[in-house]
Amino acid sequence: MSMSEEINNKTAEINIEGDRYAAANWELTTHFADREFARSAASVIAPLVEKEFRHERPIDVMGLGSGSAVYESVVCEELKSRGVETNLLVVADRQMGSLRGARNASVEVSPISVLADLSDLPISTPPPEALPRLILSRAIEHYFSDEGLAGMLKETARVMNPGDLYITQLSSADEDSLPAISAILHRVSGKAHRYFGTSRYIEFVRNVTDEAEQQLFDVESKSPGEATPQPRGTIELARRYLNGKFIELNTEAVTESGLNREWLMAEIKAIADTERSLSLGLRSGEIAKDQAVARLDAFIGDTSCFKLFRSVVLETAKEFAGVAGHAGEDLIIMRNSAGNEDVQITFRYPIILLKRSRATINTQS
Ligand SMILES: C[S@@+](CC[C@H](N)C(=O)[O-])C[C@H]1O[C@@H](n2cnc3c(N)ncnc32)[C@H](O)[C@@H]1O
Repeated sequence: MSMSEEINNKTAEINIEGDRYAAANWELTTHFADREFARSAASVIAPLVEKEFRHERPIDVMGLGSGSAVYESVVCEELKSRGVETNLLVVADRQMGSLRGARNASVEVSPISVLADLSDLPISTPPPEALPRLILSRAIEHYFSDEGLAGMLKETARVMNPGDLYITQLSSADEDSLPAISAILHRVSGKAHRYFGTSRYIEFVRNVTDEAEQQLFDVESKSPGEATPQPRGTIELARRYLNGKFIELNTEAVTESGLNREWLMAEIKAIADTERSLSLGLRSGEIAKDQAVARLDAFIGDTSCFKLFRSVVLETAKEFAGVAGHAGEDLIIMRNSAGNEDVQITFRYPIILLKRSRATINTQS
């Protein structure tokens, strides 16, 4: 059975409640759709792959938790531009909404999209003579429990031959800033993210072993590089997280503010409508991305619900930052250009190279 038949036969029927990640207006709300951002990582990754695989044969590429696979596609393009032949075979994610974009115009190749949980990939263990395999992921680790992440790493190791590469890009920040960042995102969106700093992730990987207690991956003690850091003020967080869920989670702050809930919900609807119409304009080429984002930010910034959102973010940040005005290096309380107190978070994306260890034997199939 070919790989594609096998995958189609076993497509998992798993889904989770979408998190607006793949919403229509995704292009305006996050940098994950941005090809330049993906290229900043691809330029770190390509030399690593060239060095490890030395252009011997074409490389099979897979994406895990790929969302719409813009990232995997850009990495393959970068490799191809350097003369490395790649086949982007498969991208897997457990949210249908995220995967749907994998065949859109921004992805030149058309990989097979698999709706699957990463702890149970409908992909068989490769035979020893299989082409070298490069597995990619970006910004997925914080979605997992420790047990889930260990399971995902074991499953990834199962679909690799010794010497194959798994290159992941953590969604991260300075380790001292991470508790405050998680608390803010939890307060505004209800998400219980568990971010890893580079050293904690590397230590985690080193503790994932097979039945014979052999490490599954060789991993260096340092990250070989990172994608462009993304500084974010409250307005940028609001683009993604200011929605009905925020009001639902912060009823006390709404009551204390004296603002009318129905009024706030009407504003949120108006923001969503503005996002939608700007996204349409962007797609039809009527408006450039920078202009669309600036207009959206101006609209959001004038609303009462944004002022409430900013005060909730600030209050949470201050619990961690105290009088120092910052928590770690990547969460800073500062005055923005309009003179308002604001929080700036710098999200960082370190790249980590994992090589399937040669010491272990693949026993599962
Ligand atoms: C922050 S998004 C990043 C998406 C994509 N890698 C990118 O960088 O554009 C995290 C993705 O991981 C996926 N994900 C999280 N846990 C997963 C799991 N257990 N199995 C499969 N996909 C998962 C989510 O559905 C989501 O699409």
